[in-house]
Amino acid sequence: ITVALLFGGKSTEHEVSLQSAKNIINAIDKEKYELTLIGIDKRGQWFLCDQEDFLINGDSPKDIMLKHKGLAVAFQMGKDSEQLICFAEKTFTKSIDVVFPILHGTYGEDGTVQGLLTLANIPFVGPSPLGSGIGMDKDVAKRLLRDAGIPVAKSLTYHQWEQPGINFEAVVEQLGLPVFVKPASLGSSVGISKVKQQDELFAAIKEAFAFDHKIIIEECIEGQEIECAILGNEIPIASAVGAIIPQQEFYSYAAKYIDDQGAAIQIPADIPKEIAALVQELAIKAFQVLCCEGMARVDFFLTKEHNVLINEINTIPGFTKISMYPKLWGISGISYTDLIDRLIQLALE
Ligand code: DAL
Ligand code: MG
Repeated sequence: ITVALLFGGKSTEHEVSLQSAKNIINAIDKEKYELTLIGIDKRGQWFLCDQEDFLINGDSPKDIMLKHKGLAVAFQMGKDSEQLICFAEKTFTKSIDVVFPILHGTYGEDGTVQGLLTLANIPFVGPSPLGSGIGMDKDVAKRLLRDAGIPVAKSLTYHQWEQPGINFEAVVEQLGLPVFVKPASLGSSVGISKVKQQDELFAAIKEAFAFDHKIIIEECIEGQEIECAILGNEIPIASAVGAIIPQQEFYSYAAKYIDDQGAAIQIPADIPKEIAALVQELAIKAFQVLCCEGMARVDFFLTKEHNVLINEINTIPGFTKISMYPKLWGISGISYTDLIDRLIQLALE
């Protein structure tokens, strides 16, 4: 079975994706799967890579055509040429059975690549364009979760054009302090600020709007961050539950990937059994409500009073060395190699 691994990408999580891809390349069963590596640089150009080059050395652009069952999608990316995407019965360079997009964030996790692959009739790991788009947009996802009766933190949504009219006093009145200000559609905590005083709101909102045309301001839930991994299609399974033990103000980008002392993770989480069971149940429900397929990591808050709220869903969770998703499956009895195998099989179902 030939698998095209898509990695890198235009998003702010480009580097995270490179780390995730490295681990998948190391762990995949090489007897069963033949890998084609396709790196996407920060400008959005596609490259056929070999493992050593791995984008970092600036591989020269090549035309890439992926073909699956008679349909082909071509990516012709020259340094100076415009991106050309066409669907045609032509010669091709790579015939593949399935794509594993290990792209985090915008133009990767948000349904865009998934739409392209759907149109080209190429099976891929992870949710459909719809599930991907929903999962990427914290505002839309929260509305659907709320509608399904799944508890989420209170929040307000603002579009860019509403920015001049945001009434800071009203925000604080409704949500209290501190609050989190977040771009609606980014991952890895990029652009997120924790605001403790009303006069810090202006800068935090400006920062979030630098990354997205829509933001959410969310009440701060005092409690522990816990996470649960989901695997499957219509009838998915939930992993053991893990906890983030932050050493900093919150689980920021730096805490996640840069600062070794940034956060510790505890797997399984030291929480009562019935709470862990509730988290697993809610994680599966959220996965289904949000139209997910294949995989997702669902992130929660657990308050001191043992209330469980969903923070967000990640439809292409990190696969880096420190990432929860593969670790949660490891402790739940599914090895890294086995996990990748199952994900690819789910895509082919
Ligand atoms: N967005 C990062 C990769 C995660 O959720 O793990
Ligand atoms: Mg996320």
